[in-house]
Amino acid sequence: MSMRIFVRWIAAIMVALAGPAMAQVMPDGPVLAAADLRDGQSLDGEWTYSIDPYRDGAAGFHGGPAGEGHRRYDDTDVTARTAGDPIALYEYDMDGSPKARLPESWTGHALEMRHYEGLVWYQKRFDAEPAPGERQFLRFGAVNYHAEVWLNGKLLGAHEGGFTPFAFEVTGKLRPEGNRLVVGVDSQRDGLSIPPPVTDWETYGGITRSVHLIGVPETFVDDAWVRLADDGSIVADIALDGPEAAGRTVRLLIGEIDAERFATTDAQGRARIVIPKPAELSLWSPGNPKLYNVVIEAGEDVWFDRIGFRTIATDGPRILLNGEPVFLRGISVHEEELGADPARRITPEAARELLSLAKDGLDANFVRLAHYPHGEAMLRAADEMGLIVWSEIPVYWRIAFDDPVALDKARRMLAENILRDRNRASIALWSVGNETPLSDARNTFMRKLVADVRELDPHRLVTAALLTGQDREGDHPVMVMDDPLAGALDVMAINAYNGWYGPDRLADLPAIEWDVPQDKPLLFSEVGAGATAGRHEPDLPTKFSEEYQAEYYRQTLAMLAQIPNFAGISPWILKDFRSPRRQRPVIQDGWNRKGLVSETGERKQAFEVLAQWYREREASGE
Ligand code: GCU
Repeated sequence: MSMRIFVRWIAAIMVALAGPAMAQVMPDGPVLAAADLRDGQSLDGEWTYSIDPYRDGAAGFHGGPAGEGHRRYDDTDVTARTAGDPIALYEYDMDGSPKARLPESWTGHALEMRHYEGLVWYQKRFDAEPAPGERQFLRFGAVNYHAEVWLNGKLLGAHEGGFTPFAFEVTGKLRPEGNRLVVGVDSQRDGLSIPPPVTDWETYGGITRSVHLIGVPETFVDDAWVRLADDGSIVADIALDGPEAAGRTVRLLIGEIDAERFATTDAQGRARIVIPKPAELSLWSPGNPKLYNVVIEAGEDVWFDRIGFRTIATDGPRILLNGEPVFLRGISVHEEELGADPARRITPEAARELLSLAKDGLDANFVRLAHYPHGEAMLRAADEMGLIVWSEIPVYWRIAFDDPVALDKARRMLAENILRDRNRASIALWSVGNETPLSDARNTFMRKLVADVRELDPHRLVTAALLTGQDREGDHPVMVMDDPLAGALDVMAINAYNGWYGPDRLADLPAIEWDVPQDKPLLFSEVGAGATAGRHEPDLPTKFSEEYQAEYYRQTLAMLAQIPNFAGISPWILKDFRSPRRQRPVIQDGWNRKGLVSETGERKQAFEVLAQWYREREASGE
């Protein structure tokens, strides 16, 4: 039985025995809040990799453990081990394998890796000189989809989920020179995965975000959540980890507002500090993306983050930012950099390049980061540039809603997402899913996720991208929103493609009626049409011409503007993106062409249609 199956077997037993308690879903390892700002040794850069399509490194060909000649994770110098030994037989050599520069998906390593799906072994050799008395953690920003991590031939642990961070403590396990870090990365998903095997985006398997060796004092600030409460006070929940976590004095300092407070942690190492409503606090907003340096000291540990303070709420059909109604002028974004050959290399520069197209190009104040938690670089850029964010876990399409193991995975992923990002002012909405088919099991599954959001972060809004039905009786079609999940959400959201999927003609769109609940805000989380940049049919536009896409936007915006509780929109999508489901030659060639810009950033006519509509909306104060 492979490690992966064994881990799943144990998880199933645990879930069956323990039932879906809240504690069930918390991350196994430390939170390491704001880890991306902690000092540490970067392990990015040169790694070697070895493909393993038949998973020889994970199990022998009759089952059972892998043979020594195939165990990529062993702490073995194959060259030295085989020199002069006529018996030794190795059919791998991680030290001599091809090189790659991480983080990036393996699609970018070499031409032959472009469509690889399955298991790849990565190795990093590094020296380490831990400071005396420090604890060391190996932290991965994300590994897609399943990771098994070995250090110097010993298993540290495993993680499932391609979009959230995880860490293993390696205190006392490092050697001064030549540490051998091996990661088995398996992009294969199955019926219990989150997301499922079939999505509408490129998998991008691999180590896709940074890897760091982080040193912290024996007792350190593991989690800190610092936010503005509804009464205007600033509340900080602090959690220490270590032998002296309990009864410890902690200091919270926000120098710019002369705020300094002390507290003593309880027996569990936790403390709450409340700073009464400050006289002067510059509230974060898209027009004023103000961030404060927040410092928390606990013994020798100094934790730091850059945090914006704002409130987000609903008032009937409106969304309120800092108490004022806001219309979300948005766009959807996949985690894929601009360029003809992306490999999910989202550096801070790549993140800003994408988000600047939204903020500066479209005059957007909102981005839907679809369909999974994006990397910290994207969230930091949204905080700094002033873009409200919809964050989402990939509970997408056909999930095993009736299986407790799948629920456990989704809940854990949601917790990892929220615990990593709940200090990001830009995030206003947590989405628990996208276009999930209706069933009783699905409703129960999704309601559990909604409850988890409320428990982990009652300060933000919960939403999900829903589907609608179409009633074609009478003289004009009526779109009906009758999803029972809508009642559990703070903000409803609909993905609608009238005029692209289905028989509606563009000229008829403004006559379509929307029969939706009016008691809460409604976002259109997706509307969109495809166009191949440069494909023009000015006279009789057909689908995939720029003219058709532009007219689709004109008619769709006219249709939506008539809906009373229309509170915002994030059209699908900013940029053409890779999807294995889009294979029409010349027009698609493996790309989903609903972008307002091509993969290289070439703007299509519809880009200006939407930008103009947003500028007019902003000018009219909506
Ligand atoms: C769906 C789905 C997207 C997909 C889009 C499309 O709404 O949410 O992930 O890419 O439609 O069909 O292009």
